[in-house]
Amino acid sequence: MVCVVAMYEVIFNNKFTNVLVFYVYLLVLFLVSPFLFVWELVNSVSSCLRCKENMSGKVVLITGASSGLGEFMAYEYAKRGAYLSIIATQKPNSQLKQVADRARELGSPDVLCMFADVSKVDECMMFVDDTIQHFGRLDHLVCNAGIGSLYSINNDVTKFTSVLDINFWGSVYPTHFAIPHLMKTNGKIIINASAAGVLNPPGGGFYNASKVALISFYETLRFEVSPTITITILTLGFIQTNLITAKYSSDGVGARLRKDLRDVVPTMEVEPCAKAIVDGISKGATSITEPRFFKVLMLIKFLFPQLHHFYYNTYSAIVES
Ligand SMILES: NC(=O)c1ccc[n+]([C@@H]2O[C@H](COP(=O)([O-])OP(=O)(O)OC[C@H]3O[C@@H](n4cnc5c(N)ncnc54)[C@H](OP(=O)(O)O)[C@@H]3O)[C@@H](O)[C@H]2O)c1
Repeated sequence: MVCVVAMYEVIFNNKFTNVLVFYVYLLVLFLVSPFLFVWELVNSVSSCLRCKENMSGKVVLITGASSGLGEFMAYEYAKRGAYLSIIATQKPNSQLKQVADRARELGSPDVLCMFADVSKVDECMMFVDDTIQHFGRLDHLVCNAGIGSLYSINNDVTKFTSVLDINFWGSVYPTHFAIPHLMKTNGKIIINASAAGVLNPPGGGFYNASKVALISFYETLRFEVSPTITITILTLGFIQTNLITAKYSSDGVGARLRKDLRDVVPTMEVEPCAKAIVDGISKGATSITEPRFFKVLMLIKFLFPQLHHFYYNTYSAIVES
């Protein structure tokens, strides 16, 4: 072992052999890729056959459940008979109560509705504690609340702290308070990151940064809590919710970039996406990407960065034209 490490050190310290090793590894990867492809295919087929977790009677806490993915994930859990604790911020026009009513109609035996801001640590402690007091246990924590944001180099850089506060800390705080309870139930943590955290689409600046921070944090946490707690990281592409439609139209940079987004890139409807997510979670998936073709884009980004740059340069040119 010591010998191998020493040999690699010699290779890496020489400019030529350092590059050569990279291309040799790439070639090996290319040669074994048919086998990896078959392996991936077998895994996909076997995951379809895997037993689903029985959600009936389980307690699921979902942040950001007043609209979009959080709302539709609540309905999917409700159809499977789960108890729900749903969170959104207090607003005069909040849809959270209507979501709770619909979830009860769809089959949830009890829904607890709470208004809280996930970027505030004391409010996160409160809604986790209230969930435990009400239901006595917690099985799944779905950290979904998030906001979009578009950044250009001309923007005031100090205006973006809320993106990190809500998207990153707004998942970490509830996770911190939920872990002791999830340990008791062999529970699950579901993190709604984004393909943006891997692909870094132009204009995403702080949004992309908040999502890559989530991916990195939870991939690391996985080692500490597994196998007692399963962590599922969602890296979704464009899903038809307020995030990519209504809310952006009032944002200066967003209005320019996002107006025609749905004409330029394929988007997925929220309902089939939420169903695919909850199906995946119930089968113990540790990562879920929807629409699936975003997985290929992620592979391209790592293997062929020049092609990735070309793709996004073309995309920006089309969206901004
Ligand atoms: N749509 C996409 O294409 C896409 C792709 C990848 C990842 N995602 C991620 O999916 C998650 C859900 O977004 P969405 O697309 O479903 O958009 P959405 O419809 O705007 O949902 C966002 C949810 O988060 C809640 N929320 C926002 N700030 C909050 C705060 N401080 N405290 C508590 N709740 C808060 C919102 O409720 P209130 O405003 O009522 O508080 C709403 O329920 C986000 O994390 C987003 O980054 C979305």
